[in-house]
Amino acid sequence: MQTKDNICILAIESSCDDTSAAICINGKVLANVSNSQKIHAEYGGVVPELASRAHISNIVPVVDAALKRAGVGMSEVDAIAFTRGPGLLGSLLVGVSFAKGIAQSLGIPIIDVHHMKAHVMAHFIDDDHPSFPFLCLTVSGGHTQIIKVVDYNEMEVLGKSLDDAAGEAFDKTAKMLGLSYPGGPLIDKYAAEGNPKAFKFSKPNVKGLDYSFSGLKTSVLYYLRDQTEKNPNFIEENLHDICASIQYTIIEILLKTLKKAAEETGIKEIAIAGGVSANKGLRKALNEMGEKNNWKVYVPAFEYCTDNAGMVAISAYYKYLKGEFAPLDIPAVARWSM
Ligand code: KG4
Ligand code: ZN
Repeated sequence: MQTKDNICILAIESSCDDTSAAICINGKVLANVSNSQKIHAEYGGVVPELASRAHISNIVPVVDAALKRAGVGMSEVDAIAFTRGPGLLGSLLVGVSFAKGIAQSLGIPIIDVHHMKAHVMAHFIDDDHPSFPFLCLTVSGGHTQIIKVVDYNEMEVLGKSLDDAAGEAFDKTAKMLGLSYPGGPLIDKYAAEGNPKAFKFSKPNVKGLDYSFSGLKTSVLYYLRDQTEKNPNFIEENLHDICASIQYTIIEILLKTLKKAAEETGIKEIAIAGGVSANKGLRKALNEMGEKNNWKVYVPAFEYCTDNAGMVAISAYYKYLKGEFAPLDIPAVARWSM
């Protein structure tokens, strides 16, 4: 156990298309600054090479802004944390190299953080956090997992998507509707004014606690193809109802298996995390399910749902307390199991 009065951590997140830096002192996140790269919208998805270049341009101003916002000087920082993976290798390399460079120049340790664990750890930024053990449905653009959290940074994956992630299901169906990337927030917005039962899309039949979203994607694709053959304006005329129906189906799939996990484990502390946990329909449905099943439900603040360095900082804080530092030659990793 490390002892020090004021543990100040500078954390960097650069695993995908958000360049983010955060400052955390004694487990309190004082600044969380992000630059969400806009360049990818015109390509309909993240272009890895453009993402790494944008991280290179963004990282210094973002770190500077985080230090200023927290009122902290670089010399006060005790450790540099970074997302080691999983993610886009070129993007990760920018954050990892930057962290190593600063740490070496200041003579302070580095702390490597697992991106998906960090999404879960975002819950500890708030004082009202779940108690161990709890279940966390982690839903992002690349992952969908039901995780049993037994301690800080100690987690067991109980179930995961066998194909597309929930965020991908949002983004890919949004693309079919002609919406720009990332489509999840747009589906969320249009769904608010639509009828969730207007159209019926297929739900998977997966054993255990795993997920599948590829069938839903195909069923939306074929349905839109058939309808637009009959009426070329079908999408424009029904956009709100289509979005509400897609969102409703994704939420039903997510919560059905989460409920099963809660029943099988007997755990009633239930959390959600990751970009898709910003979805208003999911947050509402989870709260309703929680009330019915006597769960205590935890939903992160919007700022800490999508990729952010605050979650990396809080993960690192608990690793710092245990003295879990990384060697300077630690590599970034695109794939990394939990
Ligand atoms: O966690 P995240 O920021 O990045 C990854 O680690 O992948 O998640 C990004 C995903 C995207 O698929 C995006 O469309 C989705 O989160 N997302 C949403 C919403 N906000 C972000 N999906 C549905 N509703 C939202 N409000
Ligand atoms: Zn993420």
